[in-house]
Order: sequence, then C-alpha cells, then structure tokens
Amino acid sequence: MFFLSPWVISNKYKLFVLYLAYIGYNKCMKIYKNRRNKVLKQMVSGVAVLPSAFMQVRSNDTEFPFRQESNFYYLSGFNEPEALLLLCKSDKESKSILFLRKSNPEMEMWIGKFLGVEAACAVLGVDEAYDINELEIHLPKLLENHERLYVDNFSQHKYIESVKKVSNALFNSRTVSISPRTFLHLNTIIEKLRLIKEPQEIQKIKKAISITQKAHHASMAMRCAGKKEYEVQAMIEYIFKKEGSSHDAYESIVAGGNNANTLHYIKNSDTLKEGDLMLIDAGCEWDYYASDITRTTPVSGTFSEAQKALYNRILKAQQEIISLIKPGITKQLLQDRSEELLTQVMLDLGILSGPIEKLVEEKTFKKYYPHGIGHWMGLDVHDTCPYKNEDGSDLVFEAGMVLTIEPALYLPLDDKDIPKEFRGIGIRIEDNILVTQEGYENLSYKIAKTVDEIEAMCKRDYKDFL
Ligand code: GLY
Ligand code: MN
Ligand code: MN
Repeated sequence: MFFLSPWVISNKYKLFVLYLAYIGYNKCMKIYKNRRNKVLKQMVSGVAVLPSAFMQVRSNDTEFPFRQESNFYYLSGFNEPEALLLLCKSDKESKSILFLRKSNPEMEMWIGKFLGVEAACAVLGVDEAYDINELEIHLPKLLENHERLYVDNFSQHKYIESVKKVSNALFNSRTVSISPRTFLHLNTIIEKLRLIKEPQEIQKIKKAISITQKAHHASMAMRCAGKKEYEVQAMIEYIFKKEGSSHDAYESIVAGGNNANTLHYIKNSDTLKEGDLMLIDAGCEWDYYASDITRTTPVSGTFSEAQKALYNRILKAQQEIISLIKPGITKQLLQDRSEELLTQVMLDLGILSGPIEKLVEEKTFKKYYPHGIGHWMGLDVHDTCPYKNEDGSDLVFEAGMVLTIEPALYLPLDDKDIPKEFRGIGIRIEDNILVTQEGYENLSYKIAKTVDEIEAMCKRDYKDFL
C-alpha cells in the first residue's frame, strides 16, 4: 500500500494553488495583451507612444494621490508612474515595449516595491522592457525606420519631449532615411475600443455602482437637517473607502437647496435645511472603473407638494428617455427627446410659457436645462469618445456601451420668472445604463429613485449601510 506523506500532500497542494494563481494571472495579463494587439492591428505602421500618469506636486514636497492615466492602464494594467509604453508595428513584426522604473531599494523603502525591469515582461506580457532612465538611449533604434508616430496631446510631457527630440535628431541625420514625420492621434483608436465594454469591465462598473448605492442610501437615511453638507460627503466617501474603492470617480457634490443650481458645486460647506432638497452627485471607482450617480432627496425625509410635482415629472422624463435606449439609436435622439420632455415639464408647471415647438426650436429650455442628457462612462467618468463619426454622422449605439442618463432642471432662487414655489430647487436624476442586444440594462436600478422608495429609505437607519 502506498501512503502519501503530509509533506508530499502539502507540496502538491501548494503547486496546485500556484497553478491556479498562474492561470488567473495569465488570463488577466492576456486581457491587456489582446487590447494592445487590437490597437496594433488598427495602426497602419509606426510607433504608438503612451506615457503613464505622473505624480503631481500638491505643495512643497507632498503629492496628490496617484491615479494611472486611463489609456495607459487600459493597455498595460500597470499602475506605476514614470513609465512609457510603445507599440511598434512594421511589415516584419508587431511588439510592445515598456519603459519603467528600475528597482531602487532606497526609494522602495519609502514608497513601496517597484515592479522593476526584470519582472516586467513576465508580469505584464510585454515583449521588451527597459529602464525609463535609458529612454533616450533606446529610442533611436526603436523609432528609426518608422514614419508614423501615434501620440496624444500630452503637452510638455517629458517623455513625449524625449520622443520629439529623438525624432528630430533622426529626421536631421544624414544616415537615417526613414524617421517619424507623420503624427496621428492615438486616442481615436483607443477611445473606440474603450467604448465597447468587455464583460469584465462591466463587472467592475457594477461593483463600483454597488458601493455607490450603499453610500447614496446611507445619505438618504442620515438625518441631515442642521448638518453640514461636508458631513454627508464624509459619510459617502467613508463608505467608498471602507468598501475598498481607492478613488472617487470625481469630486462629490452635496448641494442643499439652491446650491444644487450651481452645476459643479463641490464646496459642500453649507448647512442643510429642513424643507430643502439635497442633490448628491457622487460615485466611486472600482479598479479604475467609474460610477456616476445623482439622487435628489428631501433633507427632512418627505417631499413637499411642489418638490414632488417637479420631481415626479423629471423622473417620468428620465424613465422615458432610458426606455428609448437600444442598439441603432443615437445620443442625439435622446438629447432631442429630453429637450422636448423637460420643456413640457416646465410648461406644465408654469415655469415657461409659449408654443412648445418654439421653446424647443429656440432652445429656451437651456436657461434651466443647460447640459447634455448624459455621457459615456468607463475608465473615466466622462469617457472621451466623440458622439459623432469622422464623417460628421451620429455615432450609432451598440451593445456594450455604457452611458449616463441625467435629466435635470435648475431653478435659481433669485429668478423671478419662476413660480415662487419652485424657486431654489435643483433636481437631477442620474443613472448608469448599459446598451444590450435587447435594449438596455439600468445598472443602477437598485438605488432608490421614486418618491416612495426615497421616503422609505429616509426612514431607515444610516448605520445599516456602514
Ligand atoms: N458627476 C459628473 C457628471 O454627472 O457628469
Ligand atoms: Mn454624469
Ligand atoms: Mn454625475
């Protein structure tokens, strides 16, 4: 009879765990490699240049928290500063090359481990890796024989300056016949890829939204009257952090009463008053993916009749706009419909008067609905892809796109054209929507939104969500 000794079992187990880790790890690495290959496929030939983000000085010798540049992260999965990714394509080969910080025990003692040059190819799946301090030594041989540079406008970026300097030197050299002389926008390729989310990207957005949901519910359940807006902000961001989100997707807005009429109100410094509404636009990131949610709720826990009348109409407009989403439509269609619907709301409530066609045609609504109906969302809260194609036609929705839908009306306190009961109210309702083959999925549908849902949530104990 054969007995396995405990030593053998534990080593077999360790090998098995290592094997599983390797598979998971390899799968993760492949995601980025596949994306690099997609970019390379769309390049005619030449070199694409993508710098990482830099540490930004906050004051004297302190720095802002580091957040990787989105395109760089999308193609590398690497989250260190001081790096440069090159994608090189010629008739003969396509390859990706990463310049990064070499190991530096003295620095690492202060700020933690660097990946280092030796590990970069195995860990990130790039074909070659070099010390970023040797960038200008390697660049000439990497750039010569390439006519095109794919680059984005990183003005004054020191690595782009190096690329320009080396390109110029090659251009002026008598011994090099082909060197970079045509510059193309790299982002026009990447932003289109980023527009269609892969399944694991959608999972990350859903995770971000699930944390943001807790934070919004806690803010509704907090007895806010008499509290400062920043106290509510602190609780929201506490939940983001506690749940493991490393960054807010943008500066949180907590705006009581008339402050909601300042579109990017981030001071959050006033006292919240009984009877006012409170507009909260806050969302966290999860592994670099954003959520972007706005809810407008009563400070006292119940909507007044006037607030309810306005709120319910904006909500109905939002629901109708969301219901139009499906492959084949355009953002312009949603924008146009939102303008008609919100103009009708203002007519119904005596905020505007006149023939609706004229008010829409002349864009009179802009006084109270001045922004777009929504925007793409993903690695950036405002993902960068244009809503039009190069030929000027509208970009058509496809399954896998994610966008916000955020109709709003902003009715300033000092505007005498507005019926008195609506002055000083700003309402925005914002959800995050995935375009699917069948139509759409509202990724934030679980966040309380109807008057009844919000008022019920206001009765809860905020500690339930901590
Ligand atoms: N939170 C920014 C926006 O709604 O676009
Ligand atoms: Mn938004
Ligand atoms: Mn928002």
